[in-house]
Amino acid sequence: MKTLEGRYNLSDFVKEMTGIVAVEQDEMALVSKAEHLVGKLVQDGSWFPFDEISPDQSKYARHSLYLDPKNRFEVLALVWAPGQATPLHDHDGTWGVEGVLSGRLKVINYLQTGKVSDDVVNLRYSGCMTVGEQSTGQLLPPADCHILKAEDNQSAITIHVYGKQLNKFKVFEALGQEGLYKTYDHEVSYTS
Ligand SMILES: [Fe+2]
Repeated sequence: MKTLEGRYNLSDFVKEMTGIVAVEQDEMALVSKAEHLVGKLVQDGSWFPFDEISPDQSKYARHSLYLDPKNRFEVLALVWAPGQATPLHDHDGTWGVEGVLSGRLKVINYLQTGKVSDDVVNLRYSGCMTVGEQSTGQLLPPADCHILKAEDNQSAITIHVYGKQLNKFKVFEALGQEGLYKTYDHEVSYTS
């Protein structure tokens, strides 16, 4: 039988991820490798500090788990009460990977197809998927605009890794005309 110590945990992930960002120059390859590691991390959630991390009833909660000292990646846990969702947002030009530790997460994807002015862009809906427990997904600009939403009847905990500290992103608001969105800079806070 495997001991708890023998199971893949956050420090194993950080060690392996630090090794990857130190050498991998190709962003697509880097994201695929990061997704593989996140997949390992969500296979067994026994490392996760469930007692210390809780949802926030007013909005989805963002808990920082790790920030690379050279800002090459960060690891967050998002904790979702049933039905909580993000606005439609991007990722400030960086890549991202998500993995579901518990519950299910709906991902509604958009592709940025053009820029009309500094704060008006064209977005095209590019599909929707539901990520279940122990599953993962990835994003790379320009295909990095999405809405994340927890299922209406179930809370969720998801792990997110980004290519830098993601403390701001753009939020998109539909202008009523097909595909046209106004952008707002949005600073995001950490619950802990
Ligand atoms: Fe996101």
